[in-house]
Amino acid sequence: MDPPALPADPARLRRRLLLWYDANRRDLPWRAPPGGRADPYAVLVSEVMLQQTTVATVRPRFLAFVRRFPTLEALADAPLDDVLHEWQGLGYYRRARALHGLARTVRDGGGALPATVAGLEALPGVGPYTAAAIAAMAFGVPTVPVDGNVARVLARLARVETPLPAAWPVLRRLAADLAGAGAGEGAGDGRWGDLAQAAIELGALVCRPAPACGGCPWREVCEARAAGVEAALPRKAARAAKPRRYAVAFLVRRDDGALLLRRRPETGLLAGLVELPTTPWQEGPFRDEGAILAGAPEALDLRPLPGEVRHGFTHLDLTLGLWTGAGHEAGDGFFWRQDRLGELALPTLTRKLLRLGGITPGARP
Ligand code: ADE
Repeated sequence: MDPPALPADPARLRRRLLLWYDANRRDLPWRAPPGGRADPYAVLVSEVMLQQTTVATVRPRFLAFVRRFPTLEALADAPLDDVLHEWQGLGYYRRARALHGLARTVRDGGGALPATVAGLEALPGVGPYTAAAIAAMAFGVPTVPVDGNVARVLARLARVETPLPAAWPVLRRLAADLAGAGAGEGAGDGRWGDLAQAAIELGALVCRPAPACGGCPWREVCEARAAGVEAALPRKAARAAKPRRYAVAFLVRRDDGALLLRRRPETGLLAGLVELPTTPWQEGPFRDEGAILAGAPEALDLRPLPGEVRHGFTHLDLTLGLWTGAGHEAGDGFFWRQDRLGELALPTLTRKLLRLGGITPGARP
């Protein structure tokens, strides 16, 4: 296939999109009136907020934020604690800190946000998307910011079959083409801020993950729609397989039937929870008994039980074998009566292992 290209003259695409935007735009407090320029500070604050939450959530929070800190300078002069307080509930406090730090950098460097994409991108914490959004919306720079919404729109319009994230450079090139010169330049050009908002709006209202092509100003030229693949685009690369780790757990019973357990460290995975003792986790399956026994607690007659337990964590998958034996040395663990297992906060992984060993911990009282 040829490299993806815009399916029509960019000026014509822009004109149609802007006509649609003028008739369908939502009135949002950070947006300029049609044809106008937005306040760069308002664009900055709103885009940082919109990176993490929905328009409905952001709207009142944006208004409250700019009422409290009406300018970049006011934000820079405010104590960080006040900013974090105003950010409460929006999550990702790292972003609020970065925004505050950025305001101070700009204040100390002369006071105004740069008016070019390159100047904006040079600021700490400002990525290509936010830089393009501010440049277009506040300074009228001919550029189309590509966030997830706009990526979806462009991937469909030009039928980009390359999966994300590999497709990002192609999508940025298509965005640059859309903002570029076309044969039929004229009406509508110069409205670069509106064009950026319009592309975002199309992705938010029409070209949604489940597309509503009936309302789309580009439906007649959309390559994905012509091929009937619009709902399948943009494609996404299969996530990299999670690493797998291997371990052996031990079901050690005392004469009175109590089981040997241990508590996990207070930090890290399954912090502070109680589990069966295991060998250290390793990258490959255990090949010899020596390595298993070296990682085992004090016990007699240790032998493997048939079967295994597989468990998925967010970042890794674990496969465990289960060995059983008899013992009375608790080591760094403790013995616990089987009929009181329900009182403990046992991770699912441990419950699975117990089940494989024929034990069902009761419900927590
Ligand atoms: N999502 C990201 N940026 C946005 C904007 N400027 N308006 C509406 N939704 C958005």
